Amino acid sequence: MKPDDLHKEITPEKLYFSRRKFLALVGTVGLSAALVACGITTTPDTGTASTGSLVTDTPVPDILTPLDTITHYNNFYEFSTDKGSVADLAVNYKTEPWTLEIAGLVEHPGKISVSDLMKTYPAEERIYRLRCVEGWSMVIPWNGFALHKLLSDVGVKDSAKYVKFTGPDDPANLPGQNSAFYTWPYTEGLRLDEANHDLTILATGLYGKILPPQDGAPIRLVVPWKYGFKSIKSIVKIELVADQPPTFWNLLAPDEYGFYSNVNPNVPHPRWSQATERRIGELKRRQTYIFNGYGEQVAYLYDGMDLVKNY
Ligand code: MTE
Repeated sequence: MKPDDLHKEITPEKLYFSRRKFLALVGTVGLSAALVACGITTTPDTGTASTGSLVTDTPVPDILTPLDTITHYNNFYEFSTDKGSVADLAVNYKTEPWTLEIAGLVEHPGKISVSDLMKTYPAEERIYRLRCVEGWSMVIPWNGFALHKLLSDVGVKDSAKYVKFTGPDDPANLPGQNSAFYTWPYTEGLRLDEANHDLTILATGLYGKILPPQDGAPIRLVVPWKYGFKSIKSIVKIELVADQPPTFWNLLAPDEYGFYSNVNPNVPHPRWSQATERRIGELKRRQTYIFNGYGEQVAYLYDGMDLVKNY
């Protein structure tokens, strides 16, 4: 099936349904946009929302972001910090064959090729909003499978409380890894119950096509209620651990990027507001919703937790 055909198959009903869900989840969010200058570690997309006049005040439908945009506006620091150049730099990156290691507190540790993994766990389509911590967002039709299926098959031991994900360590082929400013390889982590949530997927494709290198081929995490940087690309290792693992962005700037990093318009980044976002392709900014609009499904994971402290 060609990606365009797949796009046509996404019926208005489906979009309508996702909008309904979206509307049902939202609360009233103030637009107290405290806007700041760009930082060294990320370039925030904060716009000029201080009066609210440039912000869409009524929720609008989620329309799929075009494939060309999804594949040419990328954060993938192993290649570059320049979003527009990642696709070109990654074009020859070899992602096949690729081995994923499952390690740590599991009954069946080992290595599996991603092609075997894709046969074992047939891909389903998941259309998710992706909200970057920098203040932009997209809607992406991923193909992949729920991480909990893999975790259940490898047999997670009772002592495991977190899942640690590691990206490639390959400075010869990943030019960005020659920068000593960052702690390579890229690492991420989830609490075990977050990893086991059905919304959490390992993606191997988008728009019905195999993932291109710039979007994290051959296998990446997608956690739609968290800022995009939690969705680590090109995973080489998944490790079940007892303690909260260190993560790439938290190591770099612990005051700015917490372990949880749930999308939260009420907790500004220290250098910019998170109240609004720019949907790539739109002029007006949109409100940002708690848990990126997936609160109905995931809020219970954080019952009793202070979401300001646990940012
Ligand atoms: N994964 C790795 N390995 N390296 C990265 O630099 N960037 C993250 C995340 N995963 C990143 C990564 C960030 S900041 C975002 S917003 C998303 O990937 C962007 O995904 P996309 O380029 O497919 O939209």
